[in-house]
Amino acid sequence: MSADKSGGLAGVVAGETGICTVGKAGLGLTYRGYSINDLAEHAQFEEVAFLLLHGHLPSRAELEAYSARLISQRGLPKELRTVLEQLPASAHPMDVLRTGCSALGCLEPEGPDRAALAVANRLLASFPSMLLYWHQFAQNGKRIETQSDDPSMAAHFLHLLLGQPAEAGRVAALNTSLVLYAEHEFNASTFAARVTTSTMADFYSAIGAGIGALRGPLHGGANEWAMELIQKFQSPDDAEAGVLEMLRRKELIMGFGHRVYKKCDPRTAPIKEIARKLARNEADRNLFAIGERIEAVMWREKSIFANLDFFSALAYHFSGIPTPLFTPIFVISRTSGWAAHILEQRANNRLIRPTAEYTGPEPRAFVPLAQR
Ligand code: COA
Repeated sequence: MSADKSGGLAGVVAGETGICTVGKAGLGLTYRGYSINDLAEHAQFEEVAFLLLHGHLPSRAELEAYSARLISQRGLPKELRTVLEQLPASAHPMDVLRTGCSALGCLEPEGPDRAALAVANRLLASFPSMLLYWHQFAQNGKRIETQSDDPSMAAHFLHLLLGQPAEAGRVAALNTSLVLYAEHEFNASTFAARVTTSTMADFYSAIGAGIGALRGPLHGGANEWAMELIQKFQSPDDAEAGVLEMLRRKELIMGFGHRVYKKCDPRTAPIKEIARKLARNEADRNLFAIGERIEAVMWREKSIFANLDFFSALAYHFSGIPTPLFTPIFVISRTSGWAAHILEQRANNRLIRPTAEYTGPEPRAFVPLAQR
């Protein structure tokens, strides 16, 4: 398709939303009208999830009730644990979450007894449990209890991962990254979730579509690829030479560029500062310096900026999170945004079904099998 015919739907307004603005002049990124900088600095992820789902910031009482509700839903049914135990240690954790989402949809389907919002909260509460139950079973042969009473999603995630409560700095860092990842307008996975919703499919199917779309390296998968890239290099100079060579071969550098933002990604500065603070030893500081050099080379050579995924990769790595769990953390957070979009799509639904320009053969006569 030629560029002027909107390949990749670039620049096409594909619907209305009251949830988020991306790249609007002077605004950067807002969730329900609130600047991402304010949310990243002050808000808990649970507050942001409530904001996205209900349209307003929770009062203290609302936040306490909402957090308590999420905490109470962290346990996994036995049947789901059995499904997770069957998945091989070699599975990609994104496939595990996609499967866990489907399995929960069979066990606790949306319907008269379970409203959409209840499903949204259940998935938000249980995705960290599913991921880490499988992770601990597949990697360490341990069947962990996932019904923790950690006060936040970030604390719960790190507790299940590390096997002990995490230090406050790491919890705060993960919390901020969850806030930054929560919502981003009509990105590919949200659009996939809305397309699925528009057919009047159930909530789990729409979230499953979102997970599938997020998995690819041009979208959420970029943070894992960014980490692999950074770790390939021994030093900043080595990174500069390597990235220049990749650019010469016209390879993509994962964690750079964006469809909508043209000058910078407003989420990059906060996550970069978090990564800088989390780098505590010589090896970490070297990786951070490598990341900064890649950022400088990309800007100097191509005027392309680091997006959220690039420095999130380092922040997660410095927090002791294994690389294959990076994109699943994106799922855990973005479920809040997907859910808000599913509810918004349902509130004013029309089947999303565009048309295509045909480029195939002219009409021709069918030739029966015996004559071919
Ligand atoms: N590395 C190297 N070159 C890049 C690049 C990257 N990460 N991102 C864009 N470019 C180049 C393209 O090759 C293209 O160059 P050309 O005009 O010489 O062909 C130009 O910049 C425009 O890019 P384009 O592919 O048209 O942008 P897009 O809007 O279709 O794609 C992304 C946007 C995000 C898919 C793209 O920037 C990308 O692939 N980034 C890497 C993956 C990533 O980090 N994804 C997470 C996004 S939050």
